[in-house]
Amino acid sequence: MKSIEEKIQDLKRERGAVIIAHNYQPDEVQAIADFTGDSLELSRKGAELPEEVIVFCGVHFMAETAAILSPEKTILLPDQFAGCPMADMITAEQLQAKKAEHPSAVVITYVNSSAAIKAESDLCCTSSNAMAVVSSVPADQEIIFVPDTHLGHYIQDELNREMIIWDGYCPTHSRIRDVDILREKEDHPNAIVMAHPECPQNIRDIADELLSTGQMCKVAAKSPHKEFIVATEMGLLYRLRNENPDKKFYSVSDRAVCPNMKKIDLEKVLWSLEDMQHRVVVPEPICSQARKSIDAMLAVK
Ligand code: 13P
Ligand code: SF4
Repeated sequence: MKSIEEKIQDLKRERGAVIIAHNYQPDEVQAIADFTGDSLELSRKGAELPEEVIVFCGVHFMAETAAILSPEKTILLPDQFAGCPMADMITAEQLQAKKAEHPSAVVITYVNSSAAIKAESDLCCTSSNAMAVVSSVPADQEIIFVPDTHLGHYIQDELNREMIIWDGYCPTHSRIRDVDILREKEDHPNAIVMAHPECPQNIRDIADELLSTGQMCKVAAKSPHKEFIVATEMGLLYRLRNENPDKKFYSVSDRAVCPNMKKIDLEKVLWSLEDMQHRVVVPEPICSQARKSIDAMLAVK
């Protein structure tokens, strides 16, 4: 009898599909994926790939971003309820009201947001390019930054650039405690601390590097250091350990888990290919309007 992995591979070929997975996906999903990456890498990959069907193992806003960039392709999200609580912390009506208070402000939206929010925005950004995106806006221009307060304040402090910042946050990164990092540092004094910029300020203050998940993979591979304390969702450890078998990676807490990222498993990937479900489509005019903010982001060098 065929294993579930073999059934997925057979059906993937039959459907002309490709499987892409975010760095926080369960280990077994990352293991069968054709590509793994961070939000920016996956958006780019989805648009570049020749396959017409993309099984997107991640959360809803990520599949939506792929659908905006490739509206002609079939984008499948294996669990339709895999959302991102941070993305739900702002509505289009709330953003419209904020824009009405600051009519000349440029709106920069973190990719962890719905298509409707992106459609109301001038520029999109991810954790790997937020600094460059904010820097691309002229210094005298007012900026509204949504929805992540921690990423917003990190950029604001680094660039010494006042912004109007929304108060959304990631519940998973908010569960990471400074005491957990300090304990790991005591146990592993030679390790460097890599934290995600979605972490609150007390965590950012003790981190050596603030990086997107894709940047963490690159830094870990290139760094002469052999030990790393990883302050982000635990799923990333699978990739870090696989790609760097000679190095050691320590998670800060087993509470650093994103329940939405873990909604997808191998059964759901298989059902997704069998039933060609759940298709993510972004209707017009939201799709074209949201695309403008993503294209504006991709144009920033
Ligand atoms: P990355 O873009 O760094 O992969 O982050 C996505 C995310 O949802 C972090 O919580
Ligand atoms: Fe959203 Fe946080 Fe999960 Fe990332 S880790 S998808 S920001 S809830």
